[in-house]
Amino acid sequence: MTATLFTGIGELVTFDPAHEGDLGLVTDGALLEVDGRVAWTGPASAAPREDADAVEELDGAAVVPGFVDAHTHLVFAGDRSAEFEARMAGRPYTAGGIRSTVAATREASDAALRGRLGGFVAELHAQGTTTFEVKSGYGLTVADEERLLRLAREVTDETTFLGAHVVPPEFADDPDAYVDLVVGPMLDACAPHATWIDVFCETGAFTVEQSRRILTAGASRGLGVRVHASQLGPGAGVQLAVELDAASVDHCTYLTDDDVERLAASATVATLLPGVEFSTRHPYPSARRLRDAGATVAIASDCNPGSSFTSSMPFCIALAVRELGLTPAEALEAATLGGAAALRRDDVGHLRPGARADFAVLAAPSHVHLAYRPGVPLVSRTVRAS
Ligand code: NIG
Ligand code: FE
Repeated sequence: MTATLFTGIGELVTFDPAHEGDLGLVTDGALLEVDGRVAWTGPASAAPREDADAVEELDGAAVVPGFVDAHTHLVFAGDRSAEFEARMAGRPYTAGGIRSTVAATREASDAALRGRLGGFVAELHAQGTTTFEVKSGYGLTVADEERLLRLAREVTDETTFLGAHVVPPEFADDPDAYVDLVVGPMLDACAPHATWIDVFCETGAFTVEQSRRILTAGASRGLGVRVHASQLGPGAGVQLAVELDAASVDHCTYLTDDDVERLAASATVATLLPGVEFSTRHPYPSARRLRDAGATVAIASDCNPGSSFTSSMPFCIALAVRELGLTPAEALEAATLGGAAALRRDDVGHLRPGARADFAVLAAPSHVHLAYRPGVPLVSRTVRAS
């Protein structure tokens, strides 16, 4: 057994109702970690020092739960900076660019993909993310999707089979034959390496009927359901996600009033990805509208080479405050507890007794600085239970 007391915490955000307000705040706080779990939090003056083998003094820094990034696409090769540059000059985003990443990824060796993935994981960690999901979706053959998931599984248990990202060029004339492949041999090969199944349910990708078929097939193999929907325009993807009790429906850029009501009445989390609107010039969705209606909101990076090439949850928090209508406290909640809900996890995203002792130490006196000081590397240390 090892026990470490982290003390001298200027502001400790726990989301523990035993402490103050919605954030479960403790000022001048301390946290006792035992074998990778939170054993106790409270005022430093009351800390159980006698139970600790080691004491770490944090000199007034703020501590927040580690960020939970519930939506990334980190296994890929190639570069699409020219596409971004053209978009910033006025060209619209189309999901067509996905196919260029697919071509580069199919060419890449496992070692090259693993090396790049490791670099992204280091970026996530340096920016306070302690739990993250990784999707496949840039292979689109049985062998490539299987290998992307195998590589993803080396870095996280939250792996998502996204064989239905787009229809690959070799099936352009017969998309339903591709769907047959996805629900048949591809699912057989991928299900053992995946926790989740996802579909890009959007005009130009997969129809609602195709999406239902794919998601239902995945669910019948024990995979949890997640959906990409309403990114480029309104559609029936949110309705489908709620119908299938998806853990999360992601993007939600173009929601109807009915979508908002459905989400509010469901256990499906609306995961907003403001890095996408930043990088595609689409309008930002309103997290305020969703929260006010009673829906659970998460924010995630969607880190991918096309629509959102950021791995930074602090950047997404700043966007959520400035552009999605959240307060700094609500944005932090969406980046921690919200992400945990989107992954149906109760052991991360908060620092209540029993939680994983995963947290970010900020070079700042409070969580507000995450949005107040955008672009500044405020995470001075990330602690993650092994
Ligand atoms: O989540 N929407 C579909 N998939 C990704 C974009 C992938 C890409 O452009 O390469 C997304 O935004
Ligand atoms: Fe995505």
